[in-house]
Amino acid sequence: MSGSSLVGKLLAGRYHLIERLGRGVTGDVYLAKHPVLGVRFAVKVLGEDYSDDVQATQRLKHEAELVSRLNHPNIVSTVDFGETDDHRFFLIMEYVHGHSLKKELRRLDPSLMPLKRVLNLLKQLCHGLTTAHDTGVIHRAVKPANVLLSVSPSGDEQVKLVDFGMAKTISDDGQSHVTRNRQIIGAPRYMAPEQLTGAPVDRRTDIYSVGVVAYLMLTGDLPFHGKTPIQVVAAQQSKPAAALSLLRPTDEIKVPREVEKICMRCLEIDREKRPRHVSHLTEAILMALPRVPDEEDRPVTITTLAGSRDEAQAWSMGSADPDDNSVGPDDTAEVDLADLEKVYQAHFHHQQERKLSQLTPEQKSKRLWNVVNKKALELAKLLEKRGLATGALSSYLITWNALAEQEMATQTEIALHKEELNETDGKWREKTASVRDALLNLRLAHSHLAEDRATNETILANLDQQIDELEARLGGATQQTEEQQRLLEHHINNLKNDLQTIQNNLGETQLLMLQILRQDKRVDMPPDIEEAYATLENLLRHV
Ligand SMILES: Nc1ncnc2c1ncn2[C@@H]1O[C@H](COP(=O)(O)OP(=O)(O)O)[C@@H](O)[C@H]1O
Ligand SMILES: [Mg+2]
Repeated sequence: MSGSSLVGKLLAGRYHLIERLGRGVTGDVYLAKHPVLGVRFAVKVLGEDYSDDVQATQRLKHEAELVSRLNHPNIVSTVDFGETDDHRFFLIMEYVHGHSLKKELRRLDPSLMPLKRVLNLLKQLCHGLTTAHDTGVIHRAVKPANVLLSVSPSGDEQVKLVDFGMAKTISDDGQSHVTRNRQIIGAPRYMAPEQLTGAPVDRRTDIYSVGVVAYLMLTGDLPFHGKTPIQVVAAQQSKPAAALSLLRPTDEIKVPREVEKICMRCLEIDREKRPRHVSHLTEAILMALPRVPDEEDRPVTITTLAGSRDEAQAWSMGSADPDDNSVGPDDTAEVDLADLEKVYQAHFHHQQERKLSQLTPEQKSKRLWNVVNKKALELAKLLEKRGLATGALSSYLITWNALAEQEMATQTEIALHKEELNETDGKWREKTASVRDALLNLRLAHSHLAEDRATNETILANLDQQIDELEARLGGATQQTEEQQRLLEHHINNLKNDLQTIQNNLGETQLLMLQILRQDKRVDMPPDIEEAYATLENLLRHV
């Protein structure tokens, strides 16, 4: 670990170090701001103790070179590389605003991340690794601390794989993760047997580590324990990892079979039995994802309706008269959980429902309101179909249909715009790949030439000028993309506001329909309609 902090320093005349983001083995990572561009970067600086360490310096240079070849939204990108006046090498990366998966898992402990979120994060990690592997790069240190969680331009959670300090190319020979004094660098519990024993590694070594990360996220536990490499190897060799489904708490949504199967295959000790490519894991996840339910409630009409709870209670069929204080709001505000559970179970069937006891009373009440809305709507439609609906009910049904259609259309439009926004990052990468590559090469050349006393000043000045020009071009392209992103963000926000209005109107329409239904209730209704009324009545006693 490096010693004194560099906060406050200006690196290479253009990166102002603001705070320390993380401490690594051979150096620290800082948040930096470019004083002219105003853009934030992350800077990895080799520690003081390592400034003379050729191996550590080479590793950082190597990291810069490898990462500059990888253009993917799920991989952190490098923008610069250089040396401070006191000969400490540094690497400039895009700044990832967020925290590591390691921290997130610690934060959630002891509960598990919702399955949908896990799969979404794993999918992105696999996407990033696929690009690395297809480019011939093996990461060799895939673990939660090197998976940063950030937010994509459209506001979705985004994975950024960092720390290619241990990475190697497939064509590299044995240069391994074992240091001069034969110590293994890294986290043994995430390492494949071949990596722990110093055997040659390949893509499947990373695939093993992804398997460990997946296992941990899905069960809350590691497949093999041990503090030292030897202990981990012993655990790996003694018996296969326990089936993931055995460790997963029973009240959690089950992991789709194809995902479980492939995760367990990633953990095979014999790498011949592991999937050959990360994309096999991605495919399994993509196939399973649509079947995994969202655990969050749809933030739609229910919220609005729940807000009108008093009104609904006053309306509630058991106490039709608002002045009837026998069921006052204060009494009913206390929801009887056992009772609610019964009603809930009777009306809310969802095959893969999260265990009821895990929901908060608010969540349950919200879901109940969902059921009320659904039942009321069904009843209204039934009345309409039988020609029993009054003019008012019919017209509210028409309004409801129109609003529901608008809601769907707006949601689709938001999704499309979000997708476009997410793609801007990738497009920027593509568009600027050659410029960024050229810049990095020029800077590397500059640093090599500057070290050589025989180098002519004019050559350096010429290089400086070329670097300036490329920087200006990169700045221009970045500004263009940022402008485009701002426009898209603005558009999405407007659409979100529209959606909110539509959903509020939907909520009001639903409430009005409820009131009309109640007014329209007559004694001589057909039995199925009577029954529908009874169901609704029963439900409304509990909201
Ligand atoms: N681009 C980045 N943006 C924000 N934080 C980062 C970035 N890169 C690294 N970090 C932080 O610094 C820590 C150490 O960085 P890492 O590249 O993993 O170095 P090491 O090789 O020392 O482990 C990370 O765990 C993370 O918290
Ligand atoms: Mg790291």
